[in-house]
Amino acid sequence: MADIRAFVCGHPVAHSRSPLIHGHWLSTLKISGSYERIDIDPADIRSFISNLPRSGFAGGNVTIPHKEAAFETVERRDAEAEAVGAVNTLWIEDGRVCGGNTDAIGFAANLDQVVPSWRGRDTALVLGAGGAARAVVHAILGAGYRRVEIVNRTPARAQELADLFGGKVVAHSIDATDRLLPSADLLVNTTSLGMDGEGSLAADCARLPDHALVTDIVYVPLRTPLLEAAAARGVETVDGLGMLLHQAVPGFERWFGRRPTVTQELRDLVIADLDAH
Ligand code: ATR
Repeated sequence: MADIRAFVCGHPVAHSRSPLIHGHWLSTLKISGSYERIDIDPADIRSFISNLPRSGFAGGNVTIPHKEAAFETVERRDAEAEAVGAVNTLWIEDGRVCGGNTDAIGFAANLDQVVPSWRGRDTALVLGAGGAARAVVHAILGAGYRRVEIVNRTPARAQELADLFGGKVVAHSIDATDRLLPSADLLVNTTSLGMDGEGSLAADCARLPDHALVTDIVYVPLRTPLLEAAAARGVETVDGLGMLLHQAVPGFERWFGRRPTVTQELRDLVIADLDAH
């Protein structure tokens, strides 16, 4: 049988850590397959996806800026893709291109691995209202939270997200953050603030309850200013790298037929790569 081939497509795609992650699993599981980077211009993404059944690939990942175009182009979508409104994983079934989204699964699986008690709490406070926030809110509701507060610089975007998910999700402007922090059992940053070269967030961790859990989807740097402030406040923190690693699991399993695990060895490998660049 020919080697199974998978890919990540984006534009640009050079920065993607997915080849490192999938390459590690291919080698540790001794599977003779490949996982490559493909840079695809936005003008060509739809034809690339439509032609997948004739390409020789079993499937692949889709990254920025193609996740919405992939959502529109695939012939079938799973429930996760429908909920998140974007596709990050492609595979072929009965000759048709199928699309899924593993971001919410990755977010939840990361917290499940590190702080299993994150489930079943009451109130979450989500900073940001973009595509990543949509996956995070979906995951939080799936974990049984009763209320999700969203604060965003542009309140209209927070409101759009709240309207999409219904009554448990409430939109606020950024000025409400201080008032909302004392009742946040879980605080999540989904904005690019805190990334290297970006500004930092105005969330005063001193206002969090003692039992709060704080997580950031930004993983460059691994210890974001928000996580540093939360740790200084003495509350539990989880960094965003685990979400990246866990979101890769379902795609690998689909294409290569084995379910890989997220280990400390894989984490160290990716951290070393992040440090080197
Ligand atoms: P992603 O798909 O990664 O979520 P996005 O859809 O561009 O990316 O969303 C980025 C999020 O970061 C948004 O919530 C954005 O706020 P706006 O909706 O007001 O644009 C937030 N964000 C980015 N830069 C910001 C800044 N300088 N201050 C406050 N919020 C910022």
